[in-house]
Amino acid sequence: MSEPKKARLILPYGGKLVNLVVEQKRRNELIEKAKFLPSIQISYRSQCDLELLAVGALSPLDRFMGEKEYKNVLKEMRLSNGTLFPIPITLPVEDKKNLEIGKEVVLRSSEFGILAIMTVEEIYEWDLEKEAMAVAGTVDSRHSLVSEMYTWGKYYISGPLVLPEQPLHFDFPNLRKTPAETRTVLEQMGFDNVIGFQPSNPMHRAHEALTKKAAEELNGALLLQAVVGITRRGYIDDYTRVRCYIALVKNYYDPARTLLGLLPMAVRMAGPRAALWHGIINRNYGVNHLIVGRDNVIPGKDKQGKHFYDTYHIQKLFKEHEKEIGVRLLPFRKMVYVTKDDAYEDLDKVISEGKEYISLSGTKVIEDSWTNERKLPEWFTRPEIAHILHEVNPPKTKRGFCIWLTGLPSSGKSTIADVLAPMLMARGKRVTMLDGDRVRTHLTKGLGFAKEDRITNIIRVGFVASEVVKHNGVAICSLISPYTTARDKVRAMIGEDKFLEVFVDTPLEVCEARDVKGLYALAKKGVIKGFTGVDDPYEMPTAPELVINTVESSPAESAIKIFHHLVERGFVKGGDGL
Ligand code: ADX
Repeated sequence: MSEPKKARLILPYGGKLVNLVVEQKRRNELIEKAKFLPSIQISYRSQCDLELLAVGALSPLDRFMGEKEYKNVLKEMRLSNGTLFPIPITLPVEDKKNLEIGKEVVLRSSEFGILAIMTVEEIYEWDLEKEAMAVAGTVDSRHSLVSEMYTWGKYYISGPLVLPEQPLHFDFPNLRKTPAETRTVLEQMGFDNVIGFQPSNPMHRAHEALTKKAAEELNGALLLQAVVGITRRGYIDDYTRVRCYIALVKNYYDPARTLLGLLPMAVRMAGPRAALWHGIINRNYGVNHLIVGRDNVIPGKDKQGKHFYDTYHIQKLFKEHEKEIGVRLLPFRKMVYVTKDDAYEDLDKVISEGKEYISLSGTKVIEDSWTNERKLPEWFTRPEIAHILHEVNPPKTKRGFCIWLTGLPSSGKSTIADVLAPMLMARGKRVTMLDGDRVRTHLTKGLGFAKEDRITNIIRVGFVASEVVKHNGVAICSLISPYTTARDKVRAMIGEDKFLEVFVDTPLEVCEARDVKGLYALAKKGVIKGFTGVDDPYEMPTAPELVINTVESSPAESAIKIFHHLVERGFVKGGDGL
């Protein structure tokens, strides 16, 4: 019997795959050495980038970018040798402590695990606005990447890297294949064409149909690359999403031409540049056709309530560089459910054939099922997926959310929170109150009122709130939180569909008149320095979900207004005595 034909896959970007992991026999020696070297902890985002660099997913890049590469990438989307590369891959650090040019430093995880050894060649300052504008096209802190950038360290560092071992993961180890391992499996499948798709939400029947059709039409293999590093905060956690993909692939896809993998990538959500970057990463895994959707590249809406990017611009940039990156863009096809055939088809085809069809937005069907506590319908998703989602995800009325009250001191934030909390608790909600004055006696004790400390205070409270919400609790936070970027960072940490920014908009004179603590008077006399509203800034929210006027409304009326908003958004059931 002759050997089955091996596929001739597209070569990696730049010719060959980078591998920064040392051979097994050198592992212990490297770990021993690392114990005695200075070290720095890196963020989870940087860990994801490091993993992609290490396994060659960012080939030809073999390190975090130095200054020249970085500037070139911002300006021209190119490495200094001319290779197209749209996203800066950099390693931010707070300070230069423990770093010396020419010396080695250990990169450690947040739990101090040894990740890599870097020989530091460069330490340079970066410019937030320039980078945000170049990469994301905006400095709006409603953009999840931009709001996060405000928390990055002041310097970037660069230099050659070695890893004693591949970063360890204990969830779905069989699905975590490096580009080289992925290529081996794809080669054995025997299809020269490989169609990539990076789902970031559970895949329903429309996604299934469009991926299968693409694979059939191009006579290719299908690589489903589930992004699991830093993804957009949605209701469905990464574990559940992956369980859905496993069930779908196992039951509905042709095993001879389908491979499911996990991509430990920290998404950038940077629209056109991000999509192109995904093209390059996927090429390293063997993909030469990429189905580009919106979910991985478009964050929520900007302060004007508009989408940051549109599909047209994403496709345009990709198409301009298709040849150069060797990956063809497959636009996300509009598929509809044809009732008679119990199948999904392209909308155009269905219209031209005059068939009856159902076309509802996925978001709407999902919202509907959550609000009405029903399983997702079979015409929309496979029963296995409906079952997993139903089991794991409570209906919307049982989900967590965060109410973030912001405003000047004595504007009425805590008073409103104190009215709202029992209203919600009386309806079965588990409420965690995080009030500025109170948390400063324990959780954030010791922090002052300088800008940096206030930001730490806000982010710390935001972190606790995000944990509460993740476990379907309600967090009511009342903090002055005077900085837009910090509020937006919390929004991104929690997920904007679960975040309700309430601006308690009380005029300064009224706050002053109400102030029982007498702090305004002390601030005016100069006894307290840096008091918000007197000699310290308060950045008014420009696009909060709600504005409360406490001059016209009583605390109870204000709380009811928030309550009604929660009912409208489906978080709370209305109609029981309010
Ligand atoms: S925030 O700016 O970091 O969000 P937070 O809400 O936690 O502030 O704390 C505000 C409370 O601290 C105020 O209600 C007030 O009682 C007290 N406080 C003391 N000094 C200041 C100050 N300089 N500016 C604002 N509030 C102050």
